[in-house]
Amino acid sequence: MANVIVVGAQFGDEGKAKVTDLLARNADMVVRYQGGANAGHTVVVHGETYKFHLIPSGILYPGKTCVLGPGMVIDPKSLLSELSGLMDRGLEDSKLRISASAHVTMPYHFLIDAAEEDSRGDQKIGTTKRGIGPTYADKCARSGIRMEDLLDRDVLKAKLDWMVPRKNVLLERIYNLPPLDADEIVNEYYELGQKVKKYVCDTAALIFQAIGDRKNILFEGAQGTLLDLDHGTYPFVTSSSPTAGGACTGTGVGPTTIDRVIGVMKAYVTRVGEGPFPTELTDSLGQRLREVGVEVGTTTGRPRRCGWFDAVLGRYAVRINGLDCLAITKLDVLDGFEEIQVCTAYRDKQTGETVTEMPTIGSKFQHMEPIYTTVKGWLTPTTECKSVKDLPENAKKYLDMISEELDCPIAIVSVGPNRDHTVVIEDPIHGPKRVLSKQPVK
Ligand code: GDP
Ligand code: IMO
Ligand code: MG
Repeated sequence: MANVIVVGAQFGDEGKAKVTDLLARNADMVVRYQGGANAGHTVVVHGETYKFHLIPSGILYPGKTCVLGPGMVIDPKSLLSELSGLMDRGLEDSKLRISASAHVTMPYHFLIDAAEEDSRGDQKIGTTKRGIGPTYADKCARSGIRMEDLLDRDVLKAKLDWMVPRKNVLLERIYNLPPLDADEIVNEYYELGQKVKKYVCDTAALIFQAIGDRKNILFEGAQGTLLDLDHGTYPFVTSSSPTAGGACTGTGVGPTTIDRVIGVMKAYVTRVGEGPFPTELTDSLGQRLREVGVEVGTTTGRPRRCGWFDAVLGRYAVRINGLDCLAITKLDVLDGFEEIQVCTAYRDKQTGETVTEMPTIGSKFQHMEPIYTTVKGWLTPTTECKSVKDLPENAKKYLDMISEELDCPIAIVSVGPNRDHTVVIEDPIHGPKRVLSKQPVK
């Protein structure tokens, strides 16, 4: 029995779904714990591509219970359209479960997300405009609509009769938008509630039962460590807790039940949306990474910003998530590069100091410039490599360097998008527990 968290260890889009899919084969339950339809998770099986936004990628395996936990925010229309697309392709919904406590993204959340972004001008966050921030804001203000509320017309009406006039003040007076009609929303969302009713339950109790039955539970993170509301590059973050701790609060599972935390990182770094990115390449090298890596957002179709691997951010992700091991993805994208750079520290442009740990004070970040170590490329295709011994020497050296810089073992290396484009270096689930570094954090 093992309960394992797969967490994004950079800015999202690290290939979490591919790694989750790999591990889901031996899991009984796959659980999403935060975020919503801002996520875009891609799995390629036998050349067939599946894109998930709300539904755990474990649904690709028949018989696995797939849970949308209470820490998620759910747009029921997006959920139903994703589900019907999957069912058209022959997948099953009989083991899909949705937490009654998960919050619902309502029509006003979409409008406010878009209007706020547009009004920010050059201070914009670059959100996915999926209503994520406003949904979590209402949750924190204790005025959100939960999945359970969609199932009771009277409760839904009472809540929306109070809420909609307040949102209309914002929409009309601040953003010059037409008002919404509470009754129309009640009718539409009650109907949506009837369509998803069969999936809604107390998922925390379901997971507790599974733990008691010694089942294997896989927690599929969305977004990434540097997008975490508390631990990311605030305010250029999402509004949930993608880091490993979020798997507990977002599902109702105690930390003592977690056996293993696996961090997923690309062999380089990408970011969609605004915010600091010290190793970003704005030149032809960045363009090359974007083209070779097909770095286009799964949810919004925006080009991803690309840059070299950043060990400072990597070390931070190891620490914040308590990572046991790493899965390094997209190694194959670097196959054609003669030289590859790794950022091992920053230089503070203001003070000249060398900085080896991520500055958590947002304003300091803009003064950081990367200090690089250059490593030789391998100039050999890696996609057909099946084991470590198949990997070119320089690729092994590159991976060793990452592992040493981050003081964390690499268990999985992904060398292509397909399920079988994978090299397993050590058992990611049952490997030795990582001993925390004795080095003080500088
Ligand atoms: P997620 O949000 O973390 O699940 O990642 P995304 O699905 O948004 O983005 C990762 C993209 O890289 C997807 O298109 C994957 O199919 C693809 N991918 C994953 N692993 C690899 C790999 O090792 N090599 C290549 N070339 N593509 C990969
Ligand atoms: P997956 O799960 C990459 C980014 C957005 C924006 C910021 C806030 O596929 O890795 P939001 O809509 O959440 O309020 O946007 O977060 N973002 C992602 N970037 N991958 C994601 O998900 C993301 N989800 C949100 O681009 O910068
Ligand atoms: Mg993604």
